[in-house]
Amino acid sequence: MENLIKLAREGRLERGLGLTFGTTHRPNQAERVSYDIEALTKKYQIGRKADGSPYRFKILTYGCQMNEHDTEVMAGLLYGMGYQQTESEEDADFILFNTCAVRENAEDKVFGQIGRMRPLKFRNPELLFGLCGCMAQEQGVQKLVLEKFPWVDLVFGTHNIQRLPELVFQAKNSTETVLEVWDKAPETVEDWPKIRKDSVRAWVNIQYGCNKFCTYCIVPYTRGVERSRLPEDILAEVASLVAEGYRDITLLGQNVNDYGVDLGTTNFAGLLRKVNEIPGIDRIRFTTSNPWNFTDELIDAIAQSEHVVEHIHLPVQSGSNRILKRMNRSHTREYYLNLVHKIRGAIPNVVLTTDIIVGFPGETEDDFEQTVSLVREVEFDNAFTFIYSPRENTPAASFEDTATLAEKKDRLRRLNDVQNEISLRHNLQLRGEIVDVLVEGESRTNKDVLSGRTRGNRLVLFPGDASMQGRHVEVEITEPQTFLLKGRVVRAPEVQEVIS
Ligand code: 5AD
Ligand code: SF4
Repeated sequence: MENLIKLAREGRLERGLGLTFGTTHRPNQAERVSYDIEALTKKYQIGRKADGSPYRFKILTYGCQMNEHDTEVMAGLLYGMGYQQTESEEDADFILFNTCAVRENAEDKVFGQIGRMRPLKFRNPELLFGLCGCMAQEQGVQKLVLEKFPWVDLVFGTHNIQRLPELVFQAKNSTETVLEVWDKAPETVEDWPKIRKDSVRAWVNIQYGCNKFCTYCIVPYTRGVERSRLPEDILAEVASLVAEGYRDITLLGQNVNDYGVDLGTTNFAGLLRKVNEIPGIDRIRFTTSNPWNFTDELIDAIAQSEHVVEHIHLPVQSGSNRILKRMNRSHTREYYLNLVHKIRGAIPNVVLTTDIIVGFPGETEDDFEQTVSLVREVEFDNAFTFIYSPRENTPAASFEDTATLAEKKDRLRRLNDVQNEISLRHNLQLRGEIVDVLVEGESRTNKDVLSGRTRGNRLVLFPGDASMQGRHVEVEITEPQTFLLKGRVVRAPEVQEVIS
């Protein structure tokens, strides 16, 4: 195992997770490329349908915020080609699955959907199906699509999104599946067009890829080695978002606290301080940060930067040192607890959330109990908990696994019970408190109820009207629940300003 990890770290692991078809050039160092996207999309104009109506696309997005953001980029490219967006599968001429490979059940869902939607092709012969994102980087998936889902017209990966306009044209003119997946990212593309989903919150990539090679995780293979964007490009993007009125900016990376390691000229703490100084910036978030390399310098930068909110997502994965070692995590239980202690000391009211895997191969009841005890000791505000899912070609997939699925499900339930009790207790302490909420818009189920978030990322629901969207309001918490807080607006200074 050690050897595999070493090879992978050195970029010498050739295990076929990523076939390369079509044209590709792969220099060793990632070039920074600024495409003339307008020219690129102009070259591949989709035109109008025979009845004069526009071609329409729908993207189904699975997985993490990185994928959500890639979807915004692909929507930008498709708009540039003359496509319009539709929410309805029946109206779509291009249905694109932007997939996640982290767990098997997410993959099964995608294949289920592709199967279910096949008949749409009989009604609309022009309909194209595409599959992209992390699943597309897996050789097994590529093979499966070609053999079992031949009605998928286009497969491309995470490293060649910029090829989308040309690939759509190839797919339109081909009776076979067009498959172009690059196994590395030869270039870091700047100046993407983006159709952002939200008008209050925006994502900004700061770093791509991951070098950590946790033994369970497919991400380093599907997203490649760590590459940081240049600070000036990031700052320019954030500044333009602020100018457009975005108020809640999330800096995205698979491993943000490694930001700048490959550049050698800056680091994540430095970047946060610079983003914090952008005139007019409101809230700054980041995800995902990991326990390793979470330096005192970074804690100080978060604590001292007024716009950086007090929410840290800090995946622990397990509370057992034995399991952490088998996971190839670079932290121990003691290191993690000490880090939490330092963070809490420096950042009062910090909201801590985490990711936990149960049922990792070899996890005993005693190992699991150590995870539960860590959860009780840290008292996270929220935890995303998962049953381990073996991922092809990752080291842990070949580890011996003794616990049964029933045992794993039982552990997950017990862990969730403990965490839910803690989340509720924390939220109950907020009853009667007045919190600052940035209003995102109407809640999902009731248009008279607005939803927004505290700086700590707690979801708050309250009656209000649309003029509050994108503004700060002060909400008194009246009904705390496990996963959200209900309340009523007691002051809306920014809204009055607008009305008067
Ligand atoms: N099985 C289950 N959960 C996983 N995660 C990553 N890989 C796996 C896997 N093979 C979880 C980790 C990670 C989160 C994004 O997904 O907890 O932090
Ligand atoms: Fe996966 Fe670990 Fe990288 Fe996260 S840090 S993406 S868990 S390998």
